[in-house]
Amino acid sequence: MTIQEKDIADHDAVIGVRELALNAAGASALRAAVRLGIAEEIGDRPVPTEELARALKVDAEVLGRLMRALAQHGVFTPTPEGHAHTSTSRLLREDDPNSLKHYVLWVTEPWTWELWPNLDEAARNGSGKFEEKYGADFFTHLHKVWPESAEVFNRAQTELSRLATNAVAEALDLRGVGTLADVAGGHGFTLATLLEKNPDLQGILLDLPPVVAEADSRLRVGGSLASRARVIGGDCLREIPVEADVYLFKNILEWADEKSVTALRNAAKAGRKDSRIFIITNMIDGSPEIKFTTGTDLLFLLNSDGRKHTTETITAVVRRAGLKVVNMQPVNSYLHLLEAGLPN
Ligand SMILES: C[S@@+](CC[C@H](N)C(=O)[O-])C[C@H]1O[C@@H](n2cnc3c(N)ncnc32)[C@H](O)[C@@H]1O
Repeated sequence: MTIQEKDIADHDAVIGVRELALNAAGASALRAAVRLGIAEEIGDRPVPTEELARALKVDAEVLGRLMRALAQHGVFTPTPEGHAHTSTSRLLREDDPNSLKHYVLWVTEPWTWELWPNLDEAARNGSGKFEEKYGADFFTHLHKVWPESAEVFNRAQTELSRLATNAVAEALDLRGVGTLADVAGGHGFTLATLLEKNPDLQGILLDLPPVVAEADSRLRVGGSLASRARVIGGDCLREIPVEADVYLFKNILEWADEKSVTALRNAAKAGRKDSRIFIITNMIDGSPEIKFTTGTDLLFLLNSDGRKHTTETITAVVRRAGLKVVNMQPVNSYLHLLEAGLPN
């Protein structure tokens, strides 16, 4: 490397670290954009700052600064006529088919800012110590103390599921399957899609009672899929109270390992010998979307001593549950499908 090349590399490194250390500014700006409703206010026509500020009832000067910062990340773009949408900013609109509005809110909720500073402490003692700090496990605390955030969380899960749903439905070969139980299936978007795509399938949605109370309307009484769906409020760490041909765990076994082991054991207990267990999860070692997966991995460490898995760690969890991994395949650019079966 010449001296000049080294200078350029050093300079790039300085820029990289400065920007990385300020990532919270980008996340906060995204959150502010969602909470102010900027993406909903800008339609197909560019809107000048003053007009946008009037419509949103915000300070025009600060709004201009916020839009300028967002534009550096490709979120909205300045044009001579005013601020216009980009493909990125459109994802902040609730009516976009690929909307990530609630996902943005979820990963920037006030409680996340409380957790991030604990990362060095977690590295020292090998645990996020959420329960010690808050007096309850994450989901109990979320529903009891931050109920509005719980709703944001559930809607964020639906957004993420919607983005992956076609790939998931394609990867899961459910021909000949009578009943599928979606364990901790959230509001049931994935289950509803699977029922729509497999007309002979019966489905069971199991999740915590306050979550299934808001289940996808297609699955509830009077819904288009209600005759083939059962919705059950319960705790899969205590019991999975249904017999099914297939148990699906989508983005679930990312809790502390002992909880993931318990959930798998409960599925094995609930099922028959020929029932099948499918796990859909982000795999750190197989994911091209590695920044998303490793970032989520750290958040899970802090909120539940959970993790995103490598092939090795998920295989270990499956084994501890008395099962073995019989198949593993990619679903899309960030999810993998595994089948866990009884050892011979
Ligand atoms: C990361 S979300 C995944 C939701 C859904 N499977 C999906 O992919 O969209 C985790 C889900 O686990 C549920 N959950 C947490 N603890 C649970 C428990 N003990 N029993 C049943 N569900 C639980 C949450 O309410 C939430 O819906």
